[in-house]
Order: sequence, then structure tokens, then C-alpha cells
Amino acid sequence: MANVAVIGAQWGDEGKGKVVDWLASRAEIVVRFQGGHNAGHTLVVGDQTYKLSLLPSGVVRGKLGIIGNGVVLDPDALLAEIAKVGAQGLKVSPENLRIAENTPLILPVHPALDKAREAARGDAKIGTTGRGIGPAYEDKVGRRAIRLCDLAEPETLSAKLDQLLLHHNALLRGLGAPQFQKQPLLDALLALAPKLLPYSEAVWERLDEAHATNKRVLFEGAQAVMLDVDHGTYPYVTSSNTVAGNAAAGAGVAPNAIGMVLGIAKAYTTRVGSGPFPTELHDEIGQGLGARGREFGTVTGRPRRCGWFDACMVRQAVKVGGINGIALTKLDVLDGITELKICTGYSINGQVFKRLPAAAGAQAAAQPIYEVMEGWTQSTYGARSYAELPAAAVKYVRRIEELVEAPVVLLSTSPERDDTITLRDPFAG
Ligand code: IMP
Repeated sequence: MANVAVIGAQWGDEGKGKVVDWLASRAEIVVRFQGGHNAGHTLVVGDQTYKLSLLPSGVVRGKLGIIGNGVVLDPDALLAEIAKVGAQGLKVSPENLRIAENTPLILPVHPALDKAREAARGDAKIGTTGRGIGPAYEDKVGRRAIRLCDLAEPETLSAKLDQLLLHHNALLRGLGAPQFQKQPLLDALLALAPKLLPYSEAVWERLDEAHATNKRVLFEGAQAVMLDVDHGTYPYVTSSNTVAGNAAAGAGVAPNAIGMVLGIAKAYTTRVGSGPFPTELHDEIGQGLGARGREFGTVTGRPRRCGWFDACMVRQAVKVGGINGIALTKLDVLDGITELKICTGYSINGQVFKRLPAAAGAQAAAQPIYEVMEGWTQSTYGARSYAELPAAAVKYVRRIEELVEAPVVLLSTSPERDDTITLRDPFAG
């Protein structure tokens, strides 16, 4: 049995939570390897709805959750999330959650800088979640991050805070934002230490052992390939690599331990925040998708921009993301639309492209080239087999497979975990 990595194939919010939850029931360990509490995964389990941001989804199913070193961890957000799910009856403790000792922390300076910078950018803002994700990753590669293991060494922590504040206060001063004092930050971190350190360990050792003993591991991606810091619509991206390759570096495992890579794609496209979106719809069809698909951000509550399925972009995500199979979600949201469009390429300044070029100007100018397909009037909501789908819906799915050059292995037809059509078992490789 292979391991499975799940990544988003568009701009996030593809319904990874449900698919990960479905797969988590068959894994022994679920690992987050990038992102932070900018992610929002909604899981519906019976009459409970869990909204997770940092916790690996597997904890809801009684599995071991691991937060890998590739994540940026906000300690307050983590403890608040543990308390929130605790109030729903789900106990999270060092028994079912382990955190890599080398995980960089998000401190209050990070959201402060994130927000001050966004405000200074005015109309050119990225539209970040304001959670401090970008500044925390900058500190990691700038070699001044405070990491979980530092909480066990008060002297190291104190010296590192000096370095961190030297950098951040200079920036905050320049942006006209309030600066931070060291002592309150140090006191807060030292107070957090006994709560967080019991979760800390060298998770690479545990994952190495899991590999050696053939335990099934699920790598749970956050955000999506088009938000990848290298491969996405830069600079309108998040600050981590969201492609499957980062599951190895962000968890501390070998690339060949990843196994099958499942890309999650919605049957249409959405995006939150700023940035290019060639198939965006500004008409009543777009509004209809938003209303029927309940397209509001899990983390920020912002309405999502909606548009037609962009096969050209998902094909690109399949190639750079290492995707071997697609889980197509929210097909039912298209029920009742008489004519559907799929983007197969772009016209950019009179030239035809079969990929989205990297330059920001070209991306902004990209006009979609559409193929029109017949829609269906019947409901696909809750379908659990291919036979229950109208012929036009099957044709739509088949055409997507051809265009994105990857098979659809799962089809999700409602938020309920069991309303899933399985065409191939991802754990079978
Ligand atoms: P950041 O990750 O907060 O820096 O935000 C950068 C960009 O990524 C913004 O456009 C956000 O809306 C987007 N983003 C971050 N996390 C998610 C997510 O979980 N789903 C969808 N978009 C996200």
C-alpha cells in the first residue's frame, strides 16, 4: 500500500477537508507539511462540523496528527483550536498530535507586519489572510525564526528575540506601525513553553519508523498549486511551496515516501484575494455558483470569486504539482446550468498559449479560450455511483480528464463524506 499526498489543484478551497477526511479514515498518520492557520478545512462528521486550520484532519478520526517543520505555527492559534474542538468533544493531546521540534513559530509581530504591509500596498495588496504567514516564512529563510525547540532554551530564545526584533521593529517603524517590546514577547513565549513542548519531537524519526513498518501516511496539503510561491500566480500567492514535492522537505521524509499524489479540483473555479483569474465570471452565472456553492472563505469569511473550470491551469498544476489523479468536487453546483464552458488555453495579446505564462502582465492580459459543453438539468447531489449521474455530467468529467491529462479517481457530490464516487483507491497507488 502506498502513501498518499493531497494537494489543491487550483487556488485553494477545492474541498480538500472532505477528501482528506475520507482518506484519513484509512490512514494511520496524517501530516501537515506547509502553510499555517491561513488554511481552513471543513469536516462534516455526523451532526458536527469541524473547522480546522492547523490541526491535521486525521485527529478527528482518531488518527495520529503530525505538524511538520514546513508549517509555520502560531502557538495561540493552535491552543485556541485545540480548545475549540475540545468543546466539541474532541480531545487533542500529545497522544494524538506531534509537532516537529524545528517548526518555525508565528509571533504577534508577524500578523502586525503582514497587515501593515498590506495596508501600505493599497490597491496592489495581495489580499493575504493577515495571519502573518508571509513574514514568518521570510524569517525562516532569513535565519532568524524562533522555532518550537527554542522554547526549551530560554537563553537562546532571548538572544534570538533580539535579532528578530531588530529586523521587525525597523520595518514596522518604516511603515509607521507600532513597534514591539522584547520582554512581553519573551514572557509570553516562556509561559507557552510548558503547554507546547510536550507536543515537540523529531517527527522525521517517527515518520521514518512508519515508513519502515509500512504504516499508511497521508500528507495533507494546504492552499493549492496556483498559490505556490514558485509555480503560482506570483506575487498573488502564499509563501510556501504547495506542490507535492514539498511534502518531503516539509515533513522530513524521502521523496519516494510520498506515493500517490491526489490533486483536488472543483468542477468550476474559485479564488479568494487578489490576482489574475482568467475564467472569472462577473455575471449572474458567477453569482449563482457562489450562492449554490456557498463560496465564502472558511478563515476570513470573504466571498470567493467564481468562474468556469480552467482545464489549462489545472493541467499545469497536474504537471508541476506531480498529480497522478484528480478528486473532482462540487459537481452538483453545476446542476441546472444549460451550457457549461471549459477553458482550454489563453489568448494573450493575440497569441495562443496552452499554459499560463509566469509574467504578471501576461497573466493579467490572459483571455480564456473556451470549449462549450452541454449542461444537465437533473440533480447530481449525493450521487454515490457513476450510474446515478446524467450522461452530460459523465461527459463533462471525461472531457476534464482528457484536458488535464490525469484521471478523475474520486468524485464528490455533497459535503457528506460518504457522498463520494470512488473510481480508483488512492491508497492502492
Ligand atoms: P497568505 O497565505 O495569508 O499570505 O495569503 C496569500 C494568498 O493566499 C491570498 O490570496 C490568500 O487569499 C490565499 N490563501 C491563503 N490560504 C488560503 C486557503 O487556505 N485557501 C484559499 N486561499 C488561501
